[in-house]
Amino acid sequence: MASLASSLSPVLLILLLSASFAASASTIQEQFIQCLFVNSQNISIPLATAFFTQNNSSFSTVLESSAQNLRYLVPSAPKPEFIFFPVHESHVQASVICSKQLRLHLRVRSGGHDYEGLSYVSQIESPFIVVDLAKLRSINVDLKDNTAWVQAGATIGEVYYRVSEKSQTHGFPAGLCTSLGVGGHITGGAYGPLMRKYGLGADNVVDARIVDVNGRILDRKAMGEDHFWAIRGGGGGSFGIILWWKIKMVPVPPTVTVFTVTKTLEQGATKTLYKWQQVADKLDENLFIRVILQPASAGAKGGRTVTTSYNALFLGGADELLQVMQESFPELGLTKKDCTETSWIKAVLYIAGYPSETPPEVLLQGKSTFKNYFKAKSDFVKEPIPETALEGLWERLMEEDSPLMVFNPYGGMMSKIPESAIPFPHRNGTLFKIQYLSLWKDADTGKAKPHMDWIRNLYNFMAPYVSKLPRTAYVNYRDLDLGMNNNGGSEDARVWGSKYFKDNFNRLVRVKTKVDPDNFFRHEQSIPPLSQPH
Ligand SMILES: Cc1cc2nc3c(=O)[nH]c(=O)nc-3n(C[C@H](O)[C@H](O)[C@H](O)COP(=O)(O)OP(=O)(O)OC[C@H]3O[C@@H](n4cnc5c(N)ncnc54)[C@H](O)[C@@H]3O)c2cc1C
Ligand SMILES: *[C@@H]1O[C@H](CO)[C@@H](O)[C@H](O)[C@H]1NC(C)=O
Ligand SMILES: *[C@@H]1O[C@H](CO)[C@@H](O)[C@H](O)[C@H]1NC(C)=O
Ligand SMILES: *[C@@H]1O[C@H](CO)[C@@H](O)[C@H](O)[C@H]1NC(C)=O
Ligand SMILES: *[C@@H]1O[C@H](CO)[C@@H](O)[C@H](O)[C@H]1NC(C)=O
Repeated sequence: MASLASSLSPVLLILLLSASFAASASTIQEQFIQCLFVNSQNISIPLATAFFTQNNSSFSTVLESSAQNLRYLVPSAPKPEFIFFPVHESHVQASVICSKQLRLHLRVRSGGHDYEGLSYVSQIESPFIVVDLAKLRSINVDLKDNTAWVQAGATIGEVYYRVSEKSQTHGFPAGLCTSLGVGGHITGGAYGPLMRKYGLGADNVVDARIVDVNGRILDRKAMGEDHFWAIRGGGGGSFGIILWWKIKMVPVPPTVTVFTVTKTLEQGATKTLYKWQQVADKLDENLFIRVILQPASAGAKGGRTVTTSYNALFLGGADELLQVMQESFPELGLTKKDCTETSWIKAVLYIAGYPSETPPEVLLQGKSTFKNYFKAKSDFVKEPIPETALEGLWERLMEEDSPLMVFNPYGGMMSKIPESAIPFPHRNGTLFKIQYLSLWKDADTGKAKPHMDWIRNLYNFMAPYVSKLPRTAYVNYRDLDLGMNNNGGSEDARVWGSKYFKDNFNRLVRVKTKVDPDNFFRHEQSIPPLSQPH
């Protein structure tokens, strides 16, 4: 039927569909397709390449295409009835209208990087469908206006590439990982190596086009300032489907400098990291130094150690960088030999971990370099973690198979933007963010438990050293543990809501109540509306 449908005119198809299916109780997918044609403003739908039911032989490949967390692709994970790839905005509008009509639970996917698989797995409702925006990925850069319209299905790497193609001195401050979908990424904040100079991706959005719960397309003016506030940091999947962001580009110098300097425990990693914690948020705003922590083999003597890698981007040349480092962080011992001067777009590839000499065109493939079974968590730190606690951290890291931690510096512009400017509240007073990860390769779900236990124990161990009341977390590092009480039951949304958004959670709930009172856009941790008197 699929290939037949694609070659027919919509009108004829509707007649055919009505004739063959309407009388009998047709399947959900048949009813959905029928409804799509009626509601797609006569924009034809290439069904053969746009619609995948569970019994299509390509279903798994398509489901897995952009999904990042293999933990949510195991056979026991719930699967969507079908996956639909809109090729036109009106198909997204029709998807909302038809899901409502047929009482189908809808999930939307842009880049598929959700840590808890929320864009392609529903653990709370069945049946559900996935609307995947991968075919809506246009990018229109307007140098004169200093802005770009970017479509939700594009990756952030494609955005960087298209900006740099037009100008070597324009950039955009968003994620380090280049395969992130701009649809989901910017809805949660979007931080990266330019954040200390320019803030988050979400701080640099000036307009948007979304599909609301009634299937209408709204821009900033039409949705109003409350709704526009909520979509810039309030997390994906709660306030409508983003079709486009209009982003403001930022200036970058023609020459930037990158480096990675690694210290092991034997090379004084503990003392250097203690010092980094005191300076990282106070450094020159042009300098971003994150630290990647991993266990490693200790070399000839045997045993294990921990490596701390200082991975940095400086908006300027190497000589100036060396001066800044000499003044503020001489303990790292940075030398000119460690530094590479390059262009901003090549620095993007460097920070994303591509081998040197990889051409920037790799960004156009939109492929991710990271697919794992993993569990992650996050924390924000307001006072340096004492050396004794760092020692405890090393022990824990050395016990686990494949853990990873990243310390990500704040300060600079991040401190100047008020907490309530957008829903992302982690601003002045934050020294750095911690990300904890455990990765594994074994599909056997039984093998996940020790890793889940390990990361949860580590999280408990860190409690005294991180933000408190609430202990805050980054919504783009979605963590379903945060909504659970000790008995595994779910708690009030306020618990995770205040961790991700602090006081901004209240305003998010008010906006949600106004724009989606019946909670059509929902998932395990979507913003709830206040219950309505019916
Ligand atoms: C390897 C890796 C590296 C990362 N690096 C960074 C980083 O450097 N900086 C950073 O800030 N974050 C980073 N993240 C986190 C990332 O920002 C979030 O996972 C983000 O939600 C991904 O967006 P997506 O479109 O790829 O994901 P998806 O899984 O497609 O979507 C994420 C959520 O948003 C919803 N959503 C998706 N598209 C839309 C849309 N068009 N409209 C409304 N809601 C939508 C989904 O339903 C889901 O709830 C990283 C994640 C991974 C896996
Ligand atoms: C679709 O096309 C049919 C036949 O040409 C027309 O009657 C109908 O009004 C069109 N619908 C929309 C939404 O444009
Ligand atoms: C599966 O989808 C493909 C499109 O990718 C289509 O060509 C094929 O006909 C579908 N197969 C079935 C059995 O529906
Ligand atoms: C897929 O399964 C549905 C229902 O299970 C069935 O109606 C449909 O014909 C099947 N499609 C194909 C292409 O096999
Ligand atoms: C940040 O907080 C510190 C101390 O709490 C305060 O002195 C400083 O003025 C604040 N900075 C901004 C930009 O608000």
